[in-house]
Amino acid sequence: MDKADKGLTVEAKKCINIGLLGLGTVGSGVVQLLTANQDHIAQRAGLNLKVKKALVRDINRARQVDTSLVSLTTEPNDILADPDIQVVVEVMGGQEPALSYIMEALSQGKHVVTANKDLLATHGKELFAAAKEAGVDLYFEASVGGGIPIIRPLKDCLAGNNIKKVYGIVNGTTNYILTKMEQGDTYEAALKEAQAKGFAEADPSSDVMGLDAARKIAILASISFGARVIEDDVSCVGIQDLEPLDLAYAKELGYKVKLLALAQEVNGALEVRVHPCLVPEQHPLASVDGVLNAIAVQGDAVGEVMFYGQGAGQMPTASAVVGDLIEVAHNIVSGVKGRNGCTCFTTKPLCPPAKAEASYFVRLEVQDKPGVMAKVATAFGNAGVSLWSVIQKRQTEQGAEIVIVTHPALGQSFEQALSVLQSYPEIFNIHQPMIVEGVEAYVAGVN
Ligand code: NAP
Ligand code: HSE
Repeated sequence: MDKADKGLTVEAKKCINIGLLGLGTVGSGVVQLLTANQDHIAQRAGLNLKVKKALVRDINRARQVDTSLVSLTTEPNDILADPDIQVVVEVMGGQEPALSYIMEALSQGKHVVTANKDLLATHGKELFAAAKEAGVDLYFEASVGGGIPIIRPLKDCLAGNNIKKVYGIVNGTTNYILTKMEQGDTYEAALKEAQAKGFAEADPSSDVMGLDAARKIAILASISFGARVIEDDVSCVGIQDLEPLDLAYAKELGYKVKLLALAQEVNGALEVRVHPCLVPEQHPLASVDGVLNAIAVQGDAVGEVMFYGQGAGQMPTASAVVGDLIEVAHNIVSGVKGRNGCTCFTTKPLCPPAKAEASYFVRLEVQDKPGVMAKVATAFGNAGVSLWSVIQKRQTEQGAEIVIVTHPALGQSFEQALSVLQSYPEIFNIHQPMIVEGVEAYVAGVN
């Protein structure tokens, strides 16, 4: 009897064969975890889980895993057309050919586990339809929050709630960069470190521009509100235009800067956005630093619950993928198919940023001469935007710098004020505005 078989039931001695599409950061982590915790996983799953083959682009590339554990191929049909492979794990990323490969795997009656938020946030509808048609499972826990369990808690444990709001830090790379910038690193140095640690996407512009977070909040919103939200529905602003001074001024005001993803229902419409935000220092999200992610969910019965942990990286993400594999194994053992279906039962209109209310922080570089402050205040006043705080911060080479925090205002009113300011020759530069979360509560708290 070999080591893996010791103490296992007859059922557990059976094996399901897995085909990996991709053996990079996450794929290698999956092989490592399945190997390291083999016995324990077999006991939990009721079956041995064995990686039979892995698809890669370059067979000669050095791998982060012992390649004697898995046979490599560059031919997708070695996996997709192999009748002995029951489960396909897609960890190659991107749109094509990942989409075609998953569709083929589903049509071949194979269960699919994927970490690919790009695909789910754009082609979720057709993927779930194909899985339903084939009567197989499509699991995707690793697509949001890396190692943090959030998809199944939303789909199962919190399913009895009307969800009001889901929000949080869902991109490890940008949170890592913002944390490092707070500590004095440049943006460029912090990004390089995040890439070296394997947090960043293959093209890190999707992290820093907020697209990765937009895909994740689209997935979370779809599940939370039972209505399909796709990446293009998400209003998205990234961190690429932030400067260390923005973080320093936020700190002086008692805030930390975080790239927040948020989805909430406002008068029957869904506001879904990703935006750099000022979070009060006493808010739990303010202490979520580095690659850590945290997602808060507000339900009518449960109140607010928070999920916190490593949102990216090899082993945390592998943990989520292997959890899905064990769930698939349970379904196979129980003879249940297609249990993890689509949860979009309805449609809801979107609330565009122009119609949504928020408090804003904005930094202006202006000419330092009489009347400029009055013109700035008038532009906001005429647009119906009330100012909470106006501070002249420092002299610059050209003049002065003004930092403004508004009371909650409609996005369109704030934009109207900015476009008036842009037309004034005395205003040299309007830096990336940020949304201030919880400003009213914070003001009430300190007064
Ligand atoms: P990665 O390190 O770039 O690995 C991608 C793997 O896919 C590589 O092995 C690559 O082969 C293979 N591959 C890519 N395109 C291929 C093609 N056209 N044909 C054959 N093989 C191909 O990516 P990763 O970081 O593991 O991410 C994988 C997925 O997990 C992505 O969807 C990502 O968004 C998601 N994810 C990642 C993390 C994380 O922390 N990294 C966390 C959560 C979710 P070669 O090795 O030969 O190039
Ligand atoms: N690039 C992503 C991040 C990986 O930084 O959070 C996890 O999806």
